Amino acid sequence: MKPNIRTPERPMLVTCGLPYVNGECHIGHLRTYVPADVYVRVLRKLGHDVTFICGSDTHGTPIVLSAEARGVSPKRLVEEYHKHFKEIFEQLDISFDHYGSTDAETNHKRTQEIVKALIKNGYVYPRSIKLAFCSRCDRFLPDRYVEGVCPYCGAAARGDECDQGCGRHLEPGEIKEPVCKVCGSKAEFREQEHFFFKLSAFKDFLMGFLETLDGTDNARNYAREWVRRELRDWCITRNLDWGVKFPGRDDLVVYVWVDAPIGYISFTEELSAMRNLDWRAFWKGDGAIIHFIGADIIYHHCIFWPAMLKGAGYSTPDAVVASGMVTINGKPLSKTRGNVVWTKEFLEKFDADTLRYYLVAYTSHTKELDFSWRVFQERVNNELAAILGNLIHRVISFAYRNFGAVPDGEISEDVFTAIKNTKEAILEALEEYEFKKLVDSAMNLAGLGNTIFQQSEPWHLVKSGDEDVRKGKSVVRSVLQIIKATAIFLEPVMPSKMEKVWEFLGMEGDVHAAPLDEALVEIKIGQKLKKPKILFPKVGDDVVATLESKLPR
Ligand code: 2FM
Ligand code: ZN
Repeated sequence: MKPNIRTPERPMLVTCGLPYVNGECHIGHLRTYVPADVYVRVLRKLGHDVTFICGSDTHGTPIVLSAEARGVSPKRLVEEYHKHFKEIFEQLDISFDHYGSTDAETNHKRTQEIVKALIKNGYVYPRSIKLAFCSRCDRFLPDRYVEGVCPYCGAAARGDECDQGCGRHLEPGEIKEPVCKVCGSKAEFREQEHFFFKLSAFKDFLMGFLETLDGTDNARNYAREWVRRELRDWCITRNLDWGVKFPGRDDLVVYVWVDAPIGYISFTEELSAMRNLDWRAFWKGDGAIIHFIGADIIYHHCIFWPAMLKGAGYSTPDAVVASGMVTINGKPLSKTRGNVVWTKEFLEKFDADTLRYYLVAYTSHTKELDFSWRVFQERVNNELAAILGNLIHRVISFAYRNFGAVPDGEISEDVFTAIKNTKEAILEALEEYEFKKLVDSAMNLAGLGNTIFQQSEPWHLVKSGDEDVRKGKSVVRSVLQIIKATAIFLEPVMPSKMEKVWEFLGMEGDVHAAPLDEALVEIKIGQKLKKPKILFPKVGDDVVATLESKLPR
């Protein structure tokens, strides 16, 4: 059901897709986290009771294979990268209330409880299947342990997905001509009992669920198509040691796509234990659940996950917000080809807020986002520095020099109207999950501030007769009001830079806690201003050329 963002009614739980912690965070990851953080920060400004959670996805074959390649245990690997992601999210000011791990005890327990409930309700059943087995390694080859040929399109594929051809999810045992990823030998097929989730029993439920699901159209449309076409039962067990044990079977763990989304529940439980919050308000009650994800995992969040929740007697999501993917210089992000920008390296050179701005302002949330150092330079220099930075620095410096404080002028009605319109555009943007619209509206307001200041020429007015001085003061106070409103409206996008603007304006309290409506509260006459500093230094051509040269042509 669509969350009502205008009036706080139900508590809201916002989640972000969990990163696999088997490598460093790159900017492709951030397309989910930054817009979700913007969404959450605006909700808080509207007075909502919001809980924002995420955590590390620690199981599955990508993790085990990376650990083997590095010669460390999966546990050690996930601990290392869990810490890395947590630190990066802190540096980026992603305001999670809790960042958990799917390997925590709470998640093991909750997963087993849910699997047992599914068994009891008749939605999980055993079946013998033929699986790829490597006799040289003497082991079954789950998911990415095996490579071969896609049974649907004939392209080279890995065990869990036809990643180079038709893109289909492959069920265990489906891949043709299997080869062991570890030793390269030809694998054989061996029979073994596994457990299946009866997804096919949820067709009617899912059709109804997708009718009322809010979020982005891409998520709903894609999922509807899948439900209409086919719903195959899912094999939910794997031959691995690392993971959550399938109840009663020491040799099997549950598929990572079972215990990963259950992390959303267990992280809410963990937070419940830490503060005054009841996880049941969301997962057994009618609190709103809003998932932010990448478009590549729509199937899991709009089909598999709601069916699993329904089958086990839990509440289902209200909205799924799926972002488009990220490319670098127009080409797919690829770690192996070096077409990647690492977040840590970015943050060593530039402020987090400039990256947050780029990710939100570049394009519509569901469209593909391309990152290039050239466009980054343009955005920083022509928008952040030339429009926003210029407004803040020029106007506050002028006011500081001439009055030292907010002058006793009248704020024009037109300014209040423009602020009201901007606030309305921000609310609409939030309802539509269009974060670009939010940032563009606030930047337009900043642009209006520049126009008013430039056209009114207060530098002449304040040097003339009384009447003109009065006008000059009104212009300055009006534009300071615009800066105050812009700081509130852009805090969700650039929290750290807007904290500084708040300080320059000499505002009391905290811009992070300032409600959206505070934008319409008159800036106080006589409030002491501070001498502003440059907020957005320009990015030089030489810097861009060096960074550009590190990426493949
Ligand atoms: O695709 C991925 O990167 C997964 N680690 C996302 C998991 S989201 C959730 F369901 F847990
Ligand atoms: Zn082998």
